[in-house]
Amino acid sequence: MAMIFKLFVGFFIFLQLQLGSTYIIVCYFTNWAQHRTGIGRFAAKDINPFLCTHLIYAFAEITEDYKIFIKDPKKDSSLKAFNGLKSRNSELKTLLAVGGWNFGSFRFNKMVSTQLTRAIFIQSVITFLRHYQFDGLDLDWAFPGVPGNPPENKHLYSKLIQELKTSFILEATKESKSTLLLSAAVGAGKKTIDNSYEIPKIIKYLDFIGVQTFDFHGPWDNFTGHNSPLYPRKDKRGDSMYLSVDFAIKYYRGKGVPGKKLIVGIATYGRSYNLSTSFSGVGAPITGPAPSAKYTNESGVMSNYEICDFLKGANYFWDEDQKVPYAVKDHIWLGYDNLRSIKVKVDWLKERKYGGVLVWTIDYDDLHGHCQRGSNPVLVYINQLFTASSDSQLTTSRMKIFVLVLEIMMAILY
Ligand SMILES: *[C@@H]1O[C@H](CO)[C@@H](O)[C@H](O)[C@H]1NC(C)=O
Ligand SMILES: *[C@@H]1O[C@H](CO)[C@@H](O)[C@H](O)[C@H]1NC(C)=O
Ligand SMILES: *[C@@H]1O[C@H](CO)[C@@H](O)[C@H](O)[C@H]1NC(C)=O
Repeated sequence: MAMIFKLFVGFFIFLQLQLGSTYIIVCYFTNWAQHRTGIGRFAAKDINPFLCTHLIYAFAEITEDYKIFIKDPKKDSSLKAFNGLKSRNSELKTLLAVGGWNFGSFRFNKMVSTQLTRAIFIQSVITFLRHYQFDGLDLDWAFPGVPGNPPENKHLYSKLIQELKTSFILEATKESKSTLLLSAAVGAGKKTIDNSYEIPKIIKYLDFIGVQTFDFHGPWDNFTGHNSPLYPRKDKRGDSMYLSVDFAIKYYRGKGVPGKKLIVGIATYGRSYNLSTSFSGVGAPITGPAPSAKYTNESGVMSNYEICDFLKGANYFWDEDQKVPYAVKDHIWLGYDNLRSIKVKVDWLKERKYGGVLVWTIDYDDLHGHCQRGSNPVLVYINQLFTASSDSQLTTSRMKIFVLVLEIMMAILY
């Protein structure tokens, strides 16, 4: 009987461990959010450490002599608060993102070009991460293969990733520490993917890849379009068929990324446009981005806590093809995500057994409950969507194990 009891307990603990790590929720925190005013202000200390499994600090940059650094003069206190979140949630992992859209490729191009300069970068990364107590690095090069970059970048990027991971493993062994994590934030456009990544070569060294499945459309087009449609519109032809979450993720999967390493981007912001005519559907002509919203102060962008104010008195539409909402008020057109479209996306990724979500960003979510839906409503909802599934899985598995143990007991006793 004692043996059977041990067996039961053993199975049960194993099960809990398995299910505890089913999905990951990767959240970006942008260090410039601390400079916003009023309800827009969001510092590292404001992060609820229980909403994400992985937190990524954006952005570090690369110096002229190939070393990683953070420009913010107040970085020490910010990083202390950020990595200090782990004292409240010991399961939490923190990573440092290097690069970003504004940083571009210039410094990356030079750094990857020789083995020596890559080695200088990698050593500086290890020292920096350990000094500030990060658990890993997130490569945010946007993007190795954009037009104008050397075509050999595609191959050099693979080398960089391989050398990073190899050095991380060596360091961990030597210092008896756990190996630093390595992830990459990658583009979602088909051309970017084709020109930038040797996917089978990089994926074995990465703990996960976060696909930036947003910014499919924006004011750089000359018409309205949704930021992050799950599917393309049915009437789409040619290249615009590729501009959807579903296409991008399937494309990576088809190129050999294991489902569990594929992390699907979800935006907590929308893209807004100034309409130039009375036509206000998807694909309507625009004059450019809508003016900046009050707190984020960037034309053509609205954070979750600014969207709810815009929606008051706006006309709301649900795009059945793309499975996302948009709203129109006066001259302004806004494509965004709400709880409905987020649920569709999370259900979609659970059905396909992808690894989880990448949220850009935690600081665009509504920290202060300005929208009357409580604090961090999007992230709380995403957590609920994932927990709901683990609970039901757990219950089913528990039942199965219970029946199995009963059967064993019956077999032994009778
Ligand atoms: C919008 O862009 C398309 C192609 O990119 C071009 O053919 C068209 O003339 C542009 N329209 C305006 C109003 O600029
Ligand atoms: C927005 O579009 C309207 C026409 O619909 C135009 O009169 C106005 O100047 C535009 N505003 C900006 C900021 O471009
Ligand atoms: C908004 O951004 C502009 C520059 O784009 C800057 O001049 C202005 O001071 C900013 N406003 C606030 C409130 O941060």
